[in-house]
Amino acid sequence: MRRSVVVGTGSALPERAVGNAELAARIDTSDEWIRTRTGIANRYVAGEGETTASLATTAARRALEAAGLASADIGLIVLATATPDQTFPASATIVQHELGCHGGIAFDVAAVCSGFVYAIGVADAMLRVGAAQRALVIGAETFSRILDWEDRATCVLFGDGAGAIVLEAREESDDPRVARGVLATRLHADGRHNQLLFVDGGPSTTGTVGKLRMRGKEVFRHAVTNLSDVLVEVLDEVGMQPGDIDWLVPHQANARILEATAKKLGLDPAKVVITVDRHANTSAASVPLALDAAVRDGRIRQGDLVMLEAMGGGFTWGASLLRM
Ligand code: UT7
Repeated sequence: MRRSVVVGTGSALPERAVGNAELAARIDTSDEWIRTRTGIANRYVAGEGETTASLATTAARRALEAAGLASADIGLIVLATATPDQTFPASATIVQHELGCHGGIAFDVAAVCSGFVYAIGVADAMLRVGAAQRALVIGAETFSRILDWEDRATCVLFGDGAGAIVLEAREESDDPRVARGVLATRLHADGRHNQLLFVDGGPSTTGTVGKLRMRGKEVFRHAVTNLSDVLVEVLDEVGMQPGDIDWLVPHQANARILEATAKKLGLDPAKVVITVDRHANTSAASVPLALDAAVRDGRIRQGDLVMLEAMGGGFTWGASLLRM
């Protein structure tokens, strides 16, 4: 059967790293509070000229290079972001223009922190029906531009960055136990909670961009339950167990959420890829940033069974199981 196989990964970070101590010098917080509550030690903050689309383009170029492909080989670009360069056009079209691969399909997906998993679901479905042969799936954000830098409960948590993968449609085995590629994806949303994590502005309401607002404790509580449920749902679909997973690449919001989710599933913590300490929460960029980090440091290899998962504003959440 036709499946979408990851043939390259890439990522990009802004130049400027901001450690906890720098934040503690500006607002009423401490390195100790941030580390113990979240596991975050550092984040990157976009400077002048660095935008969601520019970071996305760099990550995409690195993924293409890793795949040994040219931009002309790409027929579909799906960019997950909640912080586009402009309200419209889609930042994916800016990336397409920068890469110089005109004429294919390019659009953005808005599912906030779950955006990359949603984008994989959409791109995989399109590749399997033959809408394109190869896709760039990108998660890119500049949350630093929508943070309230006076709100210590949120501004210490987020960072900027981008990650990308190249998916290629290939004929693979029907048997998920041997096939490479995306094996199963499950996506969910529950709009009853759309005011627990949101931005207090928008083009159709205030005419402004707005700032991020979050009721962190409630998000935390839902995250652990929703994530462990959707992981089991995806594994059930392919008849596998948590013990079959080689690597869990989760959305990097809080090290405590990652530990609690792994524990609930009985997963070995050594199989969980953690980058929240270095990158903080980069929303839609966090899963592909972590995936690329673990591919480049040699942990994730071809043939490994990898589970991606994320949860974010909406609420939205989902998971995707793939063999590299
Ligand atoms: O990416 C989308 C998904 N997002 C998430 O998954 C985030 C989920 N939520 C969380 O990760 C956690 O709830 C937080 C890290 C946001 C907060 O941790 P918490 O253990 O739930 O802390 P809290 O909000 O209950 O705050 C505890 C205390 C409060 O003080 P009082 O009321 O106990 O006196 C806060 O005012 O910590 C205080 N506080 C801070 N202190 C120092 C809040 N932010 C800070 C800060 N520095 N930056």
